[in-house]
Amino acid sequence: MEKIVIVGEEPLQGTIAISGSKNASLPLMAASILTNDPLILNNTPNLADIHTMGSVLDSLGVNFDKTNLIENNQIQLTYKESNKALAEYDLVRKMRASILVLGPLLARKREASVSMPGGCAIGARPVNIHVDALAKLGGEFNLEQGYIKCEAKAGLKGAKIELPMISVGATENIIMAATLAKGETEINNIAIEPEIIDLIDCLKAMGALIELQPNRKILIQGVDELHGATHNVIPDRIEVGTYIIAGAITEGELELKNINFDHIENLLSVFENLDINMHKGDNSLKVNISDISKSIELDTREFPGFPTDLQAQMMVLLSLSNSSSVIRENIFENRFMHVPELNRMGANIETIGSKAIINSCGGFSGAQVMATDLRASVSLVLASLIAKGETTINRVYHLDRGYEKLENKLASCGANIKRIQ
Ligand code: EPZ
Repeated sequence: MEKIVIVGEEPLQGTIAISGSKNASLPLMAASILTNDPLILNNTPNLADIHTMGSVLDSLGVNFDKTNLIENNQIQLTYKESNKALAEYDLVRKMRASILVLGPLLARKREASVSMPGGCAIGARPVNIHVDALAKLGGEFNLEQGYIKCEAKAGLKGAKIELPMISVGATENIIMAATLAKGETEINNIAIEPEIIDLIDCLKAMGALIELQPNRKILIQGVDELHGATHNVIPDRIEVGTYIIAGAITEGELELKNINFDHIENLLSVFENLDINMHKGDNSLKVNISDISKSIELDTREFPGFPTDLQAQMMVLLSLSNSSSVIRENIFENRFMHVPELNRMGANIETIGSKAIINSCGGFSGAQVMATDLRASVSLVLASLIAKGETTINRVYHLDRGYEKLENKLASCGANIKRIQ
């Protein structure tokens, strides 16, 4: 098992290039099923999840060309009609986002069989909203031996859909399916994360007729077929937030490049509220160590609210304040697994249900810790950067799922960080 070892208290000085967004890349990859033409994605991060989605798509008849991924962050996906429509359990269990092949397969092949994605560390994460919405377009579903089997013999037909709760993945699945359904589909209560807007931009470049309206509403006119496209994946806003916190808690100065400020307005307002020292450029940001003295009450919310994927990282920042803060996790029912690990490093965080109280802790000390879920595990890296002594982080495969070249980026700025077998 690989581990990451960090010796804390090194100042960080240098530039970090933000990678492409994992959560934009995964649905974009699934969209390759919607056309027989090549879909070329630039600025794709070289992450474990990208390879996992590539394997899922490969098993469904998509040619996943990753020869340019390591050097140039480019992948090419070409779907060849095939009789395969089964997304196997041993692939899907590795990554919940595999469920995103369901809508495209149903639209193209009029059938699909996708393993139920196991729940994961952060909660049950059912897919009822995906299934119910696709059923409204004509999908007939049943669950057999842990697989979601569905078919639409007559093809999908447009419908009016009201999503019962805001779901990123369900929104992506239903939009992709509706692009090839007959007639018009109106969907209300969609998620509007930047990653979804990026998917919509790519689908439109592929010939889809999509009209995004205000108030979480979208209209889609089905077309007979979509053609290929070349698309640049948006930068990863969660990675930006993570490195802003790294720059705010360590001596020195970090300059972050490849930032789309439209995607992080909500983040920046929280950081400005905390008097984080930031200096904006056109698409870059400089951040320096900041004296955190305020206390805040923060709720994780669907975009444009504060993202749940940054909740764990915020706990490290708020632990350095000399007053207590509160974070309420409103998206997932069990996303505090990082708290015991942070407390073992000296944090003083109490959790009561979905509420966490982050008390001042006056600093961290190195320890042996365990990564749990992909986003939270980077909070352990943040704490390690300022901890006294050495920290060893186990199960770093969680980190490799969400952060491209993490230790290279930090080491290039002076962090004492290395990966060991
Ligand atoms: C996406 O997950 C992201 N993953 C998550 O990032 C992110 O935390 C989450 O959105 C919220 O922003 C990707 O984009 C690949 P949801 P998703 O459907 O689509 C419940 C990462 O890897 N729900 O918006 O799975 C669900 O249980 C991850 O970076 C249902 O009840 O999130 C959750 O409590 C961590 N039924 C809430 O909705 C459903 O059918 C939000 O889930 C679907 C979801």
